[in-house]
Amino acid sequence: MKLAMKQAAWVRWCASGAAVLAVVVVAVQCNATTKWAGADARSAEARVAWQTVYKVLQHPRCVNCHPAGDAPLQGDDSHVHAQNVQRGADGNGLFAMKCAACHQKSNLAGAHLPPGAPNWRLPRADEPLVFEGRTSSELCRQLRDPKHNGKRTPAQLLEHMANDPLVGWGWHPGVGRERVSIPRDELVRAMKAWIDGGCDCPD
Ligand code: HEC
Ligand code: HEC
Repeated sequence: MKLAMKQAAWVRWCASGAAVLAVVVVAVQCNATTKWAGADARSAEARVAWQTVYKVLQHPRCVNCHPAGDAPLQGDDSHVHAQNVQRGADGNGLFAMKCAACHQKSNLAGAHLPPGAPNWRLPRADEPLVFEGRTSSELCRQLRDPKHNGKRTPAQLLEHMANDPLVGWGWHPGVGRERVSIPRDELVRAMKAWIDGGCDCPD
């Protein structure tokens, strides 16, 4: 299926309530399998930008909720979540071990207490959006493929990176957890450059 962004989309991103960054998505096409016509000139830029996006996606703050298995991961070493917590079909946990039983809308203050953000959960079992263990090339192709990215257009992916509260938590992870080292506005700029360059991927 061909995905075209017909109109420019504005995404606003607010850092700590003060700075506002606005980015424009130029109308280009990202396609799961083939390059868009004329992509070559900008595809090199897209591949460089992708490396920044990949670095963020491989950070433990992101990988821990995008595991290859059916349990969330914990800590900077991404060990399997304690107490046999499982994904469940909808990502909200199984039986008594629902995420919301322990995770609130914001971090609980103190080391080893549950971190929190609105709607804390894993991706659904039928759409697990795995980042753990994916090579740069694999994850790049997965992210631009609507069959494997939660049916998102490139504009929706950019919007998600810029505004989703679970993504944002990566920069405010609570006591004792390393925050994502690349600033969020840099991620958003890289994502935009990747999309503008036709979502080209490394081999
Ligand atoms: C019985 C309570 C409990 C349940 C249920 C629970 N968690 Fe946790 N979770 C915790 C605690 C406590 C921590 C913090 C552990 C620490 O910092 O040592 C944690 C940490 C995490 C982390 C680690 C964050 C990081 O990057 O280090 C993730 C991810 C996570 N939980 C996801 C989930 C998800 C998703 C669910 C539901 C499927 C869930 N948890 C269910 C108690 C729970
Ligand atoms: C508490 C768990 C949690 C954390 C932490 C988390 N995510 Fe997610 N992520 C999800 C869930 C759940 C979805 C699916 C949401 C949906 O489909 O509405 C998702 C979806 C996504 C998507 C869109 C679908 C796709 O193609 O994978 C991207 C991109 C993404 N997350 C990036 C990140 C990044 C970057 C970070 C770290 C800065 C991060 N996530 C941290 C739970 C999490």
